[in-house]
Amino acid sequence: MSEKKAYTQAFHTGKYEKASGLLGKYDNVRRFWEDQVTAIFLRPALNELVDHKRQRLERVRVLDLGCGSGDGYDLIMGVTTKDPGIYEYITATLTDDMLKEYVGLDVNPDLIQQAEDYYGGDPKMRFIQEDLSNGLPPAISKDEAPFDFYFTSFGTLSHFNTEQCVKIIADICRHAPDCAIFMGDWLGRYSYEWQDLWHHPVDEEYFMDYRISYIYPEEERATADVASFPLKLVCREEVDNIIARASQEAGIEIKSLLFFDRSLLIGRHLDTGDYNKHCPKLRAPINALFESYVRTDLESLLVDFVPRQGFDHLNNFFEMLFMSSNTLVKQTMRMLDEYDSETGKLKFVPEILPFYPKPLQEAIDTVRRVMEGVGWVEWGDVRANVIETVLGYALRKLETDLQPGTGMGHGLVGIFEIRK
Ligand SMILES: C[S@@+](CC[C@H](N)C(=O)[O-])C[C@H]1O[C@@H](n2cnc3c(N)ncnc32)[C@H](O)[C@@H]1O
Repeated sequence: MSEKKAYTQAFHTGKYEKASGLLGKYDNVRRFWEDQVTAIFLRPALNELVDHKRQRLERVRVLDLGCGSGDGYDLIMGVTTKDPGIYEYITATLTDDMLKEYVGLDVNPDLIQQAEDYYGGDPKMRFIQEDLSNGLPPAISKDEAPFDFYFTSFGTLSHFNTEQCVKIIADICRHAPDCAIFMGDWLGRYSYEWQDLWHHPVDEEYFMDYRISYIYPEEERATADVASFPLKLVCREEVDNIIARASQEAGIEIKSLLFFDRSLLIGRHLDTGDYNKHCPKLRAPINALFESYVRTDLESLLVDFVPRQGFDHLNNFFEMLFMSSNTLVKQTMRMLDEYDSETGKLKFVPEILPFYPKPLQEAIDTVRRVMEGVGWVEWGDVRANVIETVLGYALRKLETDLQPGTGMGHGLVGIFEIRK
């Protein structure tokens, strides 16, 4: 009887469910692409912050605004000081001994409860249910000591209009110590996923009707009662304007450290086509690239980009991005096709033309060298487990190196330093 109870308890924690990298909130793309890319861009600022605190014999306090079920904790603690060499142990930027406290804030009681269930036993972690609609609530601005890192992630700031964002950021400036970091995460205005929405004038706030249809299997989407809510789309100029106004309102300098566009090739709405019926369904095959023992139909990674009249600079950018990703995929397919297992040699070596963008040159060269190095291995499924995974990372590298940080992806993220 106690055995049955133990299994039932384990089941109810949700942690007993079969892990799947191919579907759901924590699919492979979220873990190996979106979280990792965010961490890579965060690395320089977080390295510097941790050094700054260490020199002063102080530790780091983190506030995660719109923390949901506390996912930001793993993302932040997973940031590394560099890409480790083959012999090195991974070095976390913010090691446990340097974290003083992580506080997660969210308006949703169910998500706060879920965060408590996951992390509640950790004495350095606290969660509070509060609303950010009117800026930082007194439970933070009055009752909490300053934080060193004010963190938002995965579009949280798109829940707020411009005035609310200005107020939240101005409050953060007033609450923060000198050299604190703020990371702001919005939805980008010009993702290919929502090409149907590109025409809304940039000098007017625009909230899309965001359908979370991607949680339903494709065959159920048309009939499912899909929840939707408004989310603000922004481009770089709008964020610059919000930051300038917040800085002015608080009378405190905010230095922009960097901007990046996240998820141009893999936004969740590519697969639904809800806001662009021409969208390539890339997330599912890219999840498969990262999944061991699953072979991916590489043809399904090829994109037939459909431009939208009147948006030349957006069309030119996406043309270049998708022609680059298509070239990488096609060269990989050809190399796989012409690999000679007897001799362990490639019968076809892709030509890397001088006018290819540098990230494309590097990506093709990397895939070729990996294929030459491991193609002959007979154990496991070397195509599914090694070559396709490297292709996944090569596509990720293309995206991170070619994105301009202006609002072209699912997410537009800015990292800022507060100077007092
Ligand atoms: C896109 S989710 C991001 C969740 C989480 N940070 C993650 O990485 O998955 C946005 C979060 O903002 C929260 N949120 C929305 N409106 C809010 C408000 N007015 N005050 C506080 N949190 C809010 C939502 O409940 C949700 O958890």
